[in-house]
Amino acid sequence: MFKVNQDYLKLPGSYLFSTVARKQREYQAAHPEAEIIKLSIGDVTQPLAPAIVEALHGAVDEMAHAETFHGYAPDLGYEFLRSAMAKNDYQAKGCDINADEIFISDGAKEDCGNIQEIFSKDSKIAVCDPVYPVYVDTNVMAGRTGTYDAATGTWSNVIYMPCTKETNFAPEIPEETPDIIYLCFPNNPTGSTITKELLQKWVDYANKNGAVIIYDAAYEAFITEENIPHSIYEIDGAKEVAIEFKSYSKTAGFTGVRCGYVVIPEELKGYTKNGEKISLNKLWNRRTCTKFNGTPYITQRAAQAIYTEEGQKQIRENINYYLENAKIIREGLEKAGFKVYGGVNSPYIWLKIPEGMTSWEFFDKLLDEANVVGTPGSGFGPHGEGYFRLTAFNTKENTVEAIERIKNLFLQ
Ligand code: MLT
Repeated sequence: MFKVNQDYLKLPGSYLFSTVARKQREYQAAHPEAEIIKLSIGDVTQPLAPAIVEALHGAVDEMAHAETFHGYAPDLGYEFLRSAMAKNDYQAKGCDINADEIFISDGAKEDCGNIQEIFSKDSKIAVCDPVYPVYVDTNVMAGRTGTYDAATGTWSNVIYMPCTKETNFAPEIPEETPDIIYLCFPNNPTGSTITKELLQKWVDYANKNGAVIIYDAAYEAFITEENIPHSIYEIDGAKEVAIEFKSYSKTAGFTGVRCGYVVIPEELKGYTKNGEKISLNKLWNRRTCTKFNGTPYITQRAAQAIYTEEGQKQIRENINYYLENAKIIREGLEKAGFKVYGGVNSPYIWLKIPEGMTSWEFFDKLLDEANVVGTPGSGFGPHGEGYFRLTAFNTKENTVEAIERIKNLFLQ
């Protein structure tokens, strides 16, 4: 009799955003007349920029002719795109990253989930609390997290780093030393950022303690303020300790097109059980060539268009559109009496919910009485309880309407 991977049975019944979507569907079925506004999962609403659409059409046309047809893409990505990424996202910003250190994928979520495969099963992970659930759930699947304590919502082998309003939602160095440290800035879900000085402390800590930092920079394009790092490689010593993820999902409206990338610098070495140094770039290369047949050619041509002058201008307009929504949400919620965080360098707004309610109760109230869907803070971890996340990715009209409804509900 075959057996299933027992570690999967330890996972919460369903993935956070699937639970939220199911509740929305059920409510809609019971109330067909309700005009629900979705500010829950961070899914974009603005169409692709014209420069990207043009590149897509061009690439599709190429596929229609034998002379320009493309089969399998290179496993690690086309040189034309890897070079554009290295040049524009790193070298132009003073970071010494080259094309060979970049691996193109079909999205940062997949990379965030898969990266743990190249580390030893007994590695100790440290995560921010609250946290993007993918980091923890994929380590649960890999059997790395120990047992679950339902009362606290924590795993016995995971180091949770509380991110509270007292620390501006940044983590503090934990007492116990982790092997793998997951950081995400601008942060999902709190929308907080990290200063260069603080990030330097983490890089120094990782260098001193032989830890690796998994740095999720999926939201860096939303940074509007100075002295906030757009990449961990702006920090001295980061190439020796950090892997970075980037995504076009929110930056260029690619949630449905799917393209992201991982940076693993040549300098980054792990250790074998005999203590020999080994290149993580080589391990990830081996893994990628075995398990992935490359991001589609047409997608990579679309991504290349992001780096043209027109492309840059057009995606910036979309990012500013969402940042304007974030401002509408922030200011509206403040008027409704909420304490609000994030939304300045991030598309996520993190609000303190009224005392005496759980974040799922707040979710139900908002859905039922304002027909607005958000994401309960507790879904991101124990320290998310008492908070609620809204996203700025809907249309401006829907965002304004949602905030009016929330104001009407709470200002009565
Ligand atoms: C979110 O809402 O947290 C994101 O859209 C999830 C993701 O990017 O996978």
